[in-house]
Amino acid sequence: KRRIIMDCDPGHDDAIAIILAAAQLELEILGITTVSGNAEIEKTTMNALKICDLVSLTDVVVSKGASEPLIRLRETAPGIHGDSGLDGPELPEPSRSWSEEHGADTIIRLLKESKEPVTILPTGPLTNIALALSKAPEIKDNIEEIVLMGGGTFGNWTPTAEFNIWVDPEAAKKVFDSGIPIVVMGLDITHQAIATREVIDQVNKIDNNVAKIVGELLVFFASTYKEMFDFDGAPVHDVLTVAYCVAPELFKTKDVNITVETKGEFTAGTTLIDLHGVTGRKVNAKFGLELDVEGFWKLMIEALKKY
Ligand code: BDR
Ligand code: CA
Repeated sequence: KRRIIMDCDPGHDDAIAIILAAAQLELEILGITTVSGNAEIEKTTMNALKICDLVSLTDVVVSKGASEPLIRLRETAPGIHGDSGLDGPELPEPSRSWSEEHGADTIIRLLKESKEPVTILPTGPLTNIALALSKAPEIKDNIEEIVLMGGGTFGNWTPTAEFNIWVDPEAAKKVFDSGIPIVVMGLDITHQAIATREVIDQVNKIDNNVAKIVGELLVFFASTYKEMFDFDGAPVHDVLTVAYCVAPELFKTKDVNITVETKGEFTAGTTLIDLHGVTGRKVNAKFGLELDVEGFWKLMIEALKKY
């Protein structure tokens, strides 16, 4: 069983990532930590707790992490995820509260407690991971891999920067420079996983409450993507991190060096992905290039049928 920690900012696609992970018997979710990103920290944490209730992850610890980036001002994305961070479906108030422990401390504790190496799945800004690495650098030894959603060869928040990296470039730089094996699901590959009308119809045909909520999440997400980016259907970015852990054969990746721009006047938060090895810098990541789209949606639909 692959042991994972999900560090997220739910967020429609973060929520669906949790839902997919909870349905996979081959994954053991050790904990869920939240970060400020799509919405303020209290909101993303409440959303994580609501989704945990939905999929009966009631004994998995949920810890509230960083309320703002390492050094920059907080930025959120209500235009994409609504004011709550998870607008669309009506979800009951959570049955429990978040843990007393800070998210970064939970990451440190879980890594130290685990007898086997753990994979971390960050799907929001990388603030908690950077904080954990600063406070307890020795945790590196027990991280199998970091499979994250962020970056790409183009941007969605600035012309060159993707939202998660752009919110906290200093944290992202710390993670990319850490030497930990990293797998990057950037916009190049997440934009291949579009929840089209046909996908939503397939989800809606599944007769259970979890699938119904996922359908509602996708409808809301698609509506804001239409408004903001004139997209037909929303890319379910974060879900790819979970899919990669259970079905890596669906992904074509390339070993590359990735660095993060923290200083540029116009380009802060840009990931520099050295696809052609022009920098001579050492490989530090696997970068997602191509997705088996059909296989990906099959995995998602089969998972939803299990609920
Ligand atoms: C990323 O930004 C957020 O809005 C999504 O949840 C995803 O993690 C895509 O750029
Ligand atoms: Ca996210």
